[in-house]
Amino acid sequence: MNHHVASARPDDEPAAQEAGFAQAVIDGLSSEQKTLPCRFFYDAIGSELFEEITRVPEYYPTRTEAALLEGSAAGIAARTKPGTVLVEFGSGSSRKTEILLAQMPHLAAYVPIDVSEDALREAQERLAQRFPALEVLPVVGDFGADLHLPRELADAPRLGFFPGSTIGNLVPHDAQALLAQMGRQLDGGRLIVGVDLRKDLSVLIPAYNDAAGVTAAFNLNLLTRINRELGGDFDLRGFRHDAVWNGEEGRIEMHLVSRRAQEVHLQGHVFSFREGEHIHTENSYKYTLEGFRRVAEGAGWRVTSVWTDARDWFSLQELSRD
Ligand code: AVJ
Repeated sequence: MNHHVASARPDDEPAAQEAGFAQAVIDGLSSEQKTLPCRFFYDAIGSELFEEITRVPEYYPTRTEAALLEGSAAGIAARTKPGTVLVEFGSGSSRKTEILLAQMPHLAAYVPIDVSEDALREAQERLAQRFPALEVLPVVGDFGADLHLPRELADAPRLGFFPGSTIGNLVPHDAQALLAQMGRQLDGGRLIVGVDLRKDLSVLIPAYNDAAGVTAAFNLNLLTRINRELGGDFDLRGFRHDAVWNGEEGRIEMHLVSRRAQEVHLQGHVFSFREGEHIHTENSYKYTLEGFRRVAEGAGWRVTSVWTDARDWFSLQELSRD
């Protein structure tokens, strides 16, 4: 085990997290268009379901991005100084990161940031096996929070890694703000970001509505989590998963649709649903290269390399400050 502790938010105790969850759920279900924030998908079960999504045949992003990483990691490593700290935002299982780590034997440390403590622990154990010399400093928390590295690493150069097109979960205005925030966290260092691209709906829709129903289970798990952690009484059979393309916004939206008129109770609140009324649970923006460049530049970055697959389905982009 490490003695160093990096932290994203010292006051982020479980009780505070739960209060934040409750408030976000109550606010989201109280609004005219009901919403639930997608960051709450990732409890232990949700994180596992997401891992399962990455293995369904319809979900192209993970394997496309992994192939792009295989092809680009040596070049990225060649531009990375020895003694660099690799900071990953939303690291999950850290599986794709291994492709980078294999090319970067001289890192000062790897700092995976994730909301799932279980995922971090599992990743740390696996990485310790494969890279025994690597110092891993996991951070439990939201990846946008201020980053406090141990003193001896405070001045090390930083390389950011933000794969998976998680950036696509944010509306472009917020994506720009997050990229700017990462620029501050990385303190002059580069950022490698995975960005999913526009493509035919015959590919896009099944990726978010797979035949085996794993994405549906992932979406519905949010209600299970609310029931368990907040004492809600959602009837899981009363809702179904839906994924739609919003062409005006350029994004896939996930929804939970109420199969009938019903009421749901939660911590003294009553939420009524009409038949067919839906809770908007996630946005997944699909960018053009030009569109993403505008967002990155608006955040003070320059796009210095872009890797795409032969079908232009996904991109890996290197952003630099200078
Ligand atoms: C990990 C957030 C990028 O939007 O594709 C997968 C999450 N949602 N299937 C995505 C997700 C439904 C995923 N991100």
